[in-house]
Amino acid sequence: MEFMDSEEIRKRFLSFFKKRGHAIIPSASLVPENDPSVLFTTAGMQPLAPYLLGEKHPMGDKLANVQKCVRTQDINEVGDKTHDTFFEMLGNWSLGSYFKKEAIGWSYKFLTSKEEGLGLDSNRLHITCFEGDEDAPKDEESEKIWQSLGIPKERIYFFGKDSNWWSPGDNGPCGPDTEMFYDLNPEGAPIKTKEDFKKADSKQRVIELWNDVFMEYEKKDGKVIGKLKQKNGDTGAGLERLAMVMQGKANVFATALVAPLVALTKLRGKNLKDQKIIADHLRTA
Ligand code: ALA
Repeated sequence: MEFMDSEEIRKRFLSFFKKRGHAIIPSASLVPENDPSVLFTTAGMQPLAPYLLGEKHPMGDKLANVQKCVRTQDINEVGDKTHDTFFEMLGNWSLGSYFKKEAIGWSYKFLTSKEEGLGLDSNRLHITCFEGDEDAPKDEESEKIWQSLGIPKERIYFFGKDSNWWSPGDNGPCGPDTEMFYDLNPEGAPIKTKEDFKKADSKQRVIELWNDVFMEYEKKDGKVIGKLKQKNGDTGAGLERLAMVMQGKANVFATALVAPLVALTKLRGKNLKDQKIIADHLRTA
């Protein structure tokens, strides 16, 4: 794996999806326009909600961008290896166009291709999928797609709605997701079972890099009420986490995106974790 700066990651991502028929749209305002449901844009899909629900987007049915996001709900985790309240989300969307096969195939290709993507080692990838419940079946379709790409069954784990279901809130488009995790310490004890994976996740030995959400359901007042009239793909990968991996850093705060601010926050009486938190809040502001 070669060092890659964040601008190169953004450029590669956008040109990868442009080449695959996606229109590149600008990052929307961090303060949502005409959307009283949130204070800040928390995901690339947020400004696209009407189009995921069926309205026609003027740029077509395949979109990609780099969206600035603020997630106040992560505020208590800021300062660990991977969480920040402000981050940039690399996202690609299918508005009733392609679905699981293409979305997963392209995420995999971007992560692993040296020529067009990041050139990550596929042996270090671990995958999670939705285990199924009364609202939607077990996502065996995604499991099969991952297996067809060479990920062995042993590195695919199933979880419930708390991990592998995504919605922007109590109302709107939602659906099961499949998440891609990267092992930061492949020399460590082998991760062989779901229990091993859960432990590695809790210690941040494996970190989530990308989430592919298959938005074919709709939520109203916190309840899944049925299927949408179209099947959508909504994906998001955190630029800071990709930069951390591509720059061989121990955490997102050590990447060139955040490190200069952490250095600026060396204040009397503040430890490194405090500095990371202040740096994150400065970026968000
Ligand atoms: N909307 C999905 C997320 O934010 C991709 O994780």
